[in-house]
Amino acid sequence: MMKLKNGTGRVAGAAVVVSKTNPAEGFSPHTKCPNENTGVYSESYDPTMAHCNVTVWNPLGNGLSYEEFDFPIFSLNDDNDTEAIRQCYLGYNLGVNGSTPEYPLCAMQLFSHMHAVTDTATCMRRNDINFSINPEMVCDPLGDYNVWGSTKPLNNTAKGHKEGESMVIAATRLDSRSFFWDVAPGAESAVSGFVTLLAAAHALHNVTQEAHPPRTILYTFFQGEAFDYIGSSRMVYEMDHKQFAIDLDNVHSVVEIGQVGLRSSSELWVHSDPVSRRNNSINVSSLIDTLKSAAMNLNVTMSVPSFSQPLPPSSFQRFLRARPIPGVVIADHQSAFSNRYYESIYDKAANLNLTYPANLTEDEQLEFVTETANALADLATVVARALYKQAGGADAQLINIKAEPKIVTQMLYGFLVRSNNTWFQALISYFKDSLIIKPSSLPQLYSYVWVQGVASPNSTERQGFCVRSSVRLSKAVSPAFDLLQEYSSKDYSTWTESRWKFIKARIFLVASHDLEMLTLGVGVGILLSSLLLTYIISSKADILFSSGREPANATY
Ligand SMILES: *[C@@H]1O[C@H](CO)[C@@H](O)[C@H](O)[C@H]1NC(C)=O
Ligand SMILES: *[C@@H]1O[C@H](CO)[C@@H](O)[C@H](O)[C@H]1NC(C)=O
Ligand SMILES: *[C@@H]1O[C@H](CO)[C@@H](O)[C@H](O)[C@H]1NC(C)=O
Ligand SMILES: *[C@@H]1O[C@H](CO)[C@@H](O)[C@H](O)[C@H]1NC(C)=O
Ligand SMILES: *[C@@H]1O[C@H](CO)[C@@H](O)[C@H](O)[C@H]1NC(C)=O
Ligand SMILES: *[C@@H]1O[C@H](CO)[C@@H](O)[C@H](O)[C@H]1NC(C)=O
Ligand SMILES: *[C@@H]1O[C@H](CO)[C@@H](O)[C@H](O)[C@H]1NC(C)=O
Repeated sequence: MMKLKNGTGRVAGAAVVVSKTNPAEGFSPHTKCPNENTGVYSESYDPTMAHCNVTVWNPLGNGLSYEEFDFPIFSLNDDNDTEAIRQCYLGYNLGVNGSTPEYPLCAMQLFSHMHAVTDTATCMRRNDINFSINPEMVCDPLGDYNVWGSTKPLNNTAKGHKEGESMVIAATRLDSRSFFWDVAPGAESAVSGFVTLLAAAHALHNVTQEAHPPRTILYTFFQGEAFDYIGSSRMVYEMDHKQFAIDLDNVHSVVEIGQVGLRSSSELWVHSDPVSRRNNSINVSSLIDTLKSAAMNLNVTMSVPSFSQPLPPSSFQRFLRARPIPGVVIADHQSAFSNRYYESIYDKAANLNLTYPANLTEDEQLEFVTETANALADLATVVARALYKQAGGADAQLINIKAEPKIVTQMLYGFLVRSNNTWFQALISYFKDSLIIKPSSLPQLYSYVWVQGVASPNSTERQGFCVRSSVRLSKAVSPAFDLLQEYSSKDYSTWTESRWKFIKARIFLVASHDLEMLTLGVGVGILLSSLLLTYIISSKADILFSSGREPANATY
């Protein structure tokens, strides 16, 4: 790709066929040091740890996603349509025995027009100018919603400090990216972590209802973290400025689940920040001990990397940027990532070794418990027990906390193999007119969604039902845009996305230049001779059509 980019400038576009098997040598279009400038490790925090000085987290990163290409690049699945394109190419564009191919040639036209120009600051300014004349945007801030929920409902109308609340935050990231639009499966980089946290939350549900621990557990799922921590930086900003249901003083500690799907043995790694640990009031050791003891008697070993190693790229770094808080990041790698396809199209089910016996139906696959699911369920149990303990819960309850491998396997199947499955269909929410929450005080504590439910065996009608939960959405748009309007901020993500016209491509045969010129020449010749003929005919019309003259006095 770099050769094409730096070459003669004759490249008009590229079409990439995505191979069905992952490249064995690994592939990551991300950088070697993800989110290098927006984490906690700046020159002022600790110069020895800035810029991945101690550990290069993503050594396979080639930075392709951060290159500017001034031609469109399309990805094609290796299917029948692509086979037609390949046949067209092989049939027309390969010269016999290496000679120059002859016309007609197979051509492909790619349409992918991007409106945006230069950088975010320029294009956001242009948005603002345009808006007054005609409201047509050229680019939009990247953004979505963070998802959060708590073991005890929080009054979401009352923002800022909650007196007497102490919260243990259990965090993970929710999405991922890749070089191509709309193909970012993020199996290891996002799904392994959020499936584990969801399974842990599920395992904790009954126990926290019956014996709620003294502290509240706050589950947070951050969006847009691959783009300089959009989601976590927004939530931390809101906590810092009384715009969130709690503030940073309410935060007791943070447990983050990173990439956890690729462990070769039972060993997982508990990463922590060496800088804030120097402060004796930041008690990370007890949190690590809690995790270690929660892992006992389970097929998981919690190990600690060398004391001087900084945190891997993680949302927790954004909390540390605001203030020292005790916290850990759990991951399957001791130093560099185990993930060889970080933020690429290849970080898919196969990367997590999700395989199903060949003869299963779709519904049987959904229920089939894979090795990966068992491993993640074990980890979810450890995380759930450690969270309960960290929230001050009683040891006697720990035995009742157990994550279900079946739920884990269903989630992995749904998020990585087939999202249109019977289980997900039953959980899809939809609007129901008749559902109006009357008591106005209720939505402050809970959110309500109507879900489709399943059809009973003897009917086709789904039995929908209403779900009351403490799960909320909060904006995941970088504060640099809607709150601060600092489009060239160094502290917050400033990624924007260009508006674009429809994306499409077509293939056709082109004739040779000579043939085209000949066709044009013949056309012009015919045009000229017909003009000449018309002129001659009309100028000699009285001779040619003279016999038709009528006498002036003729009557009809
Ligand atoms: C692709 O082509 C093969 C062979 O021509 C055919 O058997 C198969 O059904 C086609 N697949 C699709 C999805 O059209
Ligand atoms: C191409 O090369 C092969 C081997 O050199 C030869 O047998 C064949 O006749 C050549 N084909 C044409 C069309 O020249
Ligand atoms: C939630 O907070 C709002 C604003 O402080 C307050 O008016 C309301 O009564 C609270 N609701 C509950 C259920 O505590
Ligand atoms: C240590 O942490 C506490 C609690 O966050 C903070 O108040 C204090 O300033 C920190 N001390 C140093 C030396 O950073
Ligand atoms: C992948 O799964 C297969 C079948 O379950 C197993 O034999 C193989 O060892 C697994 N590979 C890894 C790297 O876990
Ligand atoms: C999902 O699958 C059902 C059949 O199980 C099918 O009727 C429906 O059209 C599918 N939906 C989508 C969006 O593919
Ligand atoms: C469906 O079957 C169940 C028991 O098999 C029965 O109780 C129910 O009334 C049936 N529903 C309808 C709509 O026939």
